[in-house]
Amino acid sequence: MCGIMGYVGSKPALPVVLKGLRQLEYRGYDSAGIAIADKDRISVLKCKGKVADLENLVKRENFPGSTALGHTRWATHGEPSTPNAHPHIDCSGKIAIVHNGIIENHAPLRKLLEAEGHTFRSDTDTEVFSHLVEKFYRGDILLAVQEALTLIEGAYAFAVICQDEPDKIVAARRESPLVIGVGNGNEGEYIIASDLVAIVEHTRQAIHLDDGEIGVFQPSGHRIIDKANMKVEKDVESITWSLDKITKGGFPHYMLKEIFEQPETIYDTMRGRILKEKAQIKLGGLEDLIKLPSAEKTTTGLSHLLNSKRIVIIGCGTSWHASLVGEYLFENMLGIPVEVEYASEARYRNFIVDKDTTVIGISQSGETADTLAALREAKRRGAATLGLVNVVGSSIARETHCGVYLHAGPEIGVASTKAFTSQVCLLALMALLIGREKHVITDQRAGTIIQRLLEIPSQVEEILKKSSLIRDMAQRYAGFSNFLYLGRGYNFPIALEGALKLKEISYIHAEGYPAAEMKHGPIALIDENMPVIFIATDTEDQTYQKVISNIEEVKSRHGQVIIIASEGNESIYDVADTVITIPETEYCLTPLLTVIPLQLFAYHMAMLKGYDPDQPRNLAKSVTVE
Ligand code: AGP
Ligand code: GLU
Repeated sequence: MCGIMGYVGSKPALPVVLKGLRQLEYRGYDSAGIAIADKDRISVLKCKGKVADLENLVKRENFPGSTALGHTRWATHGEPSTPNAHPHIDCSGKIAIVHNGIIENHAPLRKLLEAEGHTFRSDTDTEVFSHLVEKFYRGDILLAVQEALTLIEGAYAFAVICQDEPDKIVAARRESPLVIGVGNGNEGEYIIASDLVAIVEHTRQAIHLDDGEIGVFQPSGHRIIDKANMKVEKDVESITWSLDKITKGGFPHYMLKEIFEQPETIYDTMRGRILKEKAQIKLGGLEDLIKLPSAEKTTTGLSHLLNSKRIVIIGCGTSWHASLVGEYLFENMLGIPVEVEYASEARYRNFIVDKDTTVIGISQSGETADTLAALREAKRRGAATLGLVNVVGSSIARETHCGVYLHAGPEIGVASTKAFTSQVCLLALMALLIGREKHVITDQRAGTIIQRLLEIPSQVEEILKKSSLIRDMAQRYAGFSNFLYLGRGYNFPIALEGALKLKEISYIHAEGYPAAEMKHGPIALIDENMPVIFIATDTEDQTYQKVISNIEEVKSRHGQVIIIASEGNESIYDVADTVITIPETEYCLTPLLTVIPLQLFAYHMAMLKGYDPDQPRNLAKSVTVE
């Protein structure tokens, strides 16, 4: 997520805002900028890169103003670049805005504003808002912002300043965070920020804006109105959290914070991409035009994907596990042959791909050396390349012919969690999109899957409530040195992912296998010292009874059995030592739910072992070397 910072009061604003941007750096970003209102102008300085780069830019001049905005951008629309960095200004340069979120209807609004003569300087969705405020400005910046917001669809936290009212900041939010620090004794001093970490050194008194509320803040005081245009009196709350607790959103580790963010991030991956009433999917990135060396004309990424004779999905680690789920989705839902390759293997094998192949590279960081190299090799061999990436403007995002972003926000924990569920969610959206385009998925079927997809965030929320139950389970099994994870079909990749999570943060040996494979060797390992975690959701999966047989085989050899099962399946308790249940959903969507207990199990096990799950030994967040 980006970072918003604003100051209005009696002190020079610039040092306060720059310091605040530094304190918000942990949120992850790709560019930064500031806008200062002083005397009779608004100065805007911004750059791709770090806050340090911005500081170098700023120190060349003196900006004495006492009203300023700052922003660290996490790009969603328009790659990281200086023109795309915030703040954005209107045509006159008299209005400057910063934004956190996504304006879903930015394209039609941009067309409307351009037709009215507005000139755009960036490729972002955000800039639309600066021109909307300009369109409605008639001397009252609060009113202009209020009117502009009525046209905005999507999530936002906005902060706005205006040259003609230089001692005011207008702030508004819907679904994106924004908090306002109320100056400690300094008359009428306000610090506006995305989170408390940029406020606590100035004051521990804060106002939390609620969704739909807009406020104007100036040295003489503040006024807040709600979406019904009624004035609201907000409580000024005292901040008691420590700084460390604040950066992790109150969680002890980024990994746990990111596990608990998944209801929101899975929704963010879907946001603006599901046309529910028509049971259609829209993935803008696939509409980009691509020109392969062998092709006479340009086609869209989607049309190439639809006409591909082969689809190869590549990735590493957790992203490779997501690729496997993608294989099951595409083959089961679309009847398209799909191969999944470890990127590190594909790049050195005789990678047989050509103009009739689409190679999909999955990567959270977009910088994994093996995945990038394999995609380059695929491109060299004439294949179309498509990136499913979280970090906007990353190498894989820039070097593939086209792609779709996860919109999961920065993933700071080394062990990938929210990126994985966003990857799987995005692959499900792609399967639906392709299935609808190829007429192999009916309206009704697509509508059902979409409805169930939209239920996933709240179902994940339900599972997260079992965290303490899963901690107790980890306690019971903390003494074991080896685990087997077994699953079938869509949940075979989840068995692999669950095992990887345990290995990489608790350093306990764990192996994932297709459940049926157990009889081909691993069963020799089964005894009372080898707990086996089964994923056995009793959906329409015809192999459910087979999994039950596998469970019986383990029990008969005194193996301990932990089962991730479907809610309401009472018979499962007859064969399990421990059961964690998940809500019912479509079989093809179960990976989004079955992985959650396994993420939590690994996290709690690491904590019981006294390890730091955010910094597991020997691991890096992005493996940018071979
Ligand atoms: C997963 O928890 C690990 N951090 C690792 O396996 C990771 O998934 C792999 O290195 C791929 O990273 P990427 O998604 O950034 O390409
Ligand atoms: N969607 C806006 C952009 O891409 C804001 C992203 C953010 O929240 O940083 O610039």
